[in-house]
Amino acid sequence: FDNIRPKIEKHIREVKDFPKKGINFRDIMPLFTNPQLVNELCVVIADHVRHSVGHVDSVAGLEARGFLIGPLVAIQLGVPFVPIRKKGKLPGAVIEASYVKEYGEDIVEVQEGAIKNGEIVFLIDDLLATGGTLRAATDLVVKAGGKVGEAFVIIELAPLNGRAKLTDVKLTTLISYDSA
Ligand code: PRP
Ligand code: MG
Repeated sequence: FDNIRPKIEKHIREVKDFPKKGINFRDIMPLFTNPQLVNELCVVIADHVRHSVGHVDSVAGLEARGFLIGPLVAIQLGVPFVPIRKKGKLPGAVIEASYVKEYGEDIVEVQEGAIKNGEIVFLIDDLLATGGTLRAATDLVVKAGGKVGEAFVIIELAPLNGRAKLTDVKLTTLISYDSA
């Protein structure tokens, strides 16, 4: 990732006081003004999966920004994309896992049958903050009978120590910030 990291870094915008005062929002949207770089990133992630993770049966992306990169990586790998969404968004039978947010509890869901027994899943999202979201996604994969081959995020907000919630998961982050 050493070659692509600085290029991606240049496409991350910092928005102060969003979504509320005191939060320094890391926005990945400028990346999508550069389709060539998006493609390069997905190729690099797919190569990383092939060489460091090994075989995966699917790529699971987390609503909402995990849906931007996840399907592109899945196409590169030639495996299915599995959406993990917030409660009540996916039709039909679902499996759910809950996590604690700053205020109260949140629930993520996956459609029943999307992950089969014994399957290895590559999890992807834009950002790791407190780690609650990826923790719940990991629990969800396990509940569905699968195993997380690796969890991948573009941005890690290191001071929030989300890593501590994911000690049982191989975690790769492209860019780590020392300030939240
Ligand atoms: C943000 C971000 C991650 C999550 C990380 O999503 O995109 O998914 O928070 O936070 P955590 O590590 O503390 O759980 P958010 O829940 O704001 O929703 P969105 O992606 O649907 O906008
Ligand atoms: Mg999100």
